[in-house]
Amino acid sequence: MIFQIERMSAADITAVREIDCRSAALPWPLSSYEYEVNHNPAGRSFVARDAEGTVLGFLTAWLIIDEFHIANIAVNPEKRRMGIGYALMRHGLVAAKNEKAEQSFLEVRAGNHPAIALYRKIGYEIVSIRKGYYRDNGEDALNMNLYPENYRLFIEKEEHQA
Ligand SMILES: CC(C)(COP(=O)(O)OP(=O)(O)OC[C@H]1O[C@@H](n2cnc3c(N)ncnc32)[C@H](O)[C@@H]1OP(=O)(O)O)[C@@H](O)C(=O)NCCC(=O)NCCS
Repeated sequence: MIFQIERMSAADITAVREIDCRSAALPWPLSSYEYEVNHNPAGRSFVARDAEGTVLGFLTAWLIIDEFHIANIAVNPEKRRMGIGYALMRHGLVAAKNEKAEQSFLEVRAGNHPAIALYRKIGYEIVSIRKGYYRDNGEDALNMNLYPENYRLFIEKEEHQA
């Protein structure tokens, strides 16, 4: 699958929201994406596009001092298991590292095995559990951290493979 990753623009928001609605029990409202793209100084949002420019997936994150917080990621259900989610994470983590990020945090539903596998592959570790965190079904949230050492190792590995 040939795709490229770019910063999310206002023109991408409708397609991003559509993928979010097909992927998440609690999708973000359009206004949240508009804020991320147009106003949030900490916002670092990216999309993966195919050769025609169609949005295949997205990553929304925040860079807060030296912390890169993953806020949301999703790939079009028909385009999963093709490396797009990993590439979005890699792109965001490399870009944040270039802006002096040292560690990365996220939270994920305890039953979301594909996402947990993706994060573990990168080097994130489960550090705590928030019981009954998700309001739609009371599912637990796992807090996962990519600690500075694992972040450095990930970047080194990716640079080596580039
Ligand atoms: C999680 C998600 C973004 C992964 O995107 P993707 O493009 O399918 O992932 P990739 O093809 O890049 O896979 C990278 C790695 O993730 C893991 N992975 C992804 N999907 C998986 C699955 N269904 N089962 C097990 N492992 C999986 C594997 O380790 C995989 O590496 P491998 O292919 O070498 O085995 C995608 O499943 C998705 O959009 N899910 C719905 C939204 C969501 O849950 N977001 C996370 C919110 S916290």
